[in-house]
Formats: sequence, structure tokens, C-alpha cells
Amino acid sequence: MTPLILVLNGPNLNMLGTREPAQYGYETLADLGQHCADTANAHGLEVEFRQTNHEGELIDWIHAARNRCAGIVINPGAWTHTSVAIRDALVASEVPVIEVHLSNVHKREPFRHVSFVSSIAVGVICGLGSHGYRMAISYFAELLKERAA
Ligand code: DQA
Repeated sequence: MTPLILVLNGPNLNMLGTREPAQYGYETLADLGQHCADTANAHGLEVEFRQTNHEGELIDWIHAARNRCAGIVINPGAWTHTSVAIRDALVASEVPVIEVHLSNVHKREPFRHVSFVSSIAVGVICGLGSHGYRMAISYFAELLKERAA
């Protein structure tokens, strides 16, 4: 069976393209989804790309990933800095997680320097725009290849 990578996006990321372009650039969420699909295809992986503005919905998606997904790439948006519930859901899923941010959160306001997710993630990528998502998917692809070898 083709391994599935779940790419999850939190609140306000549906506004990409028009939202604070100085921070997030001009690519839309659909562009990001296309980049992820292209990268996954190139590695023979399947990808599901989702966004929600509702925290409970994101938590339900994370729970459903248990025993179903080979990896989660997540940009929790502002919930990164606020949500113990999302962190707990990720731990409960027992799926390896890579945290991604489009902007370099460490260059920004101090409240963005705190993440509830980073310490339970395999790794964190920030500041590289949509490249971060692609790199995270490629990393999972390499890891799966190594495990299969
Ligand atoms: C973000 C950074 C967060 O601090 C912010 O709340 C977002 C986007 C990023 O991708 O750079 O919504 O996660």
C-alpha cells in the first residue's frame, strides 16, 4: 500500500495569497497543496492536504491519522503557540510529526517563539515558505525508504 502523508494547516492559512504577503508571500493555499502533491508523487507517496479554522476539527483529523498515516506535516498556525490540545492529539496519534511554518517565527514577536508542538515533533522547519512543506515530505520519503531497505 502507498504510504500516506497527512499535511495539516491551521487557522487563517486559507487566506494565503492575500494575507500579510510580506510575511507569507503570494502563494495561495491551493499552490501549497499542489507543491505537496507534486513532491509526494515524485517520491511515490500519497498526500492528503487539509486546512481548517476549527480546532476540534483539526484534533479529529489528527486522531483519525492513527494507524493510517506514515507521517504528519503540520502548520498549526496560531494554535502552535496556544494549543496543548493539539499537542496532546499529536502525541496520542503516535504518528511522527514535522512542524512547519512559512515564516521564520523566531524573527517575529516573542509570543511566536513558543511552540507547544516542537518538543514532540521529529523536526521543525520555519522561514522557508512552501519549500518547508516540500522538505518535510521529502524527509518522510527518505525515512520510509531507509526503513524498507
Ligand atoms: C505561521 C506562523 C504563526 O505564528 C502564525 O500564527 C500563522 C502562520 C507560519 O506559517 O509562519 O498563522 O504558522
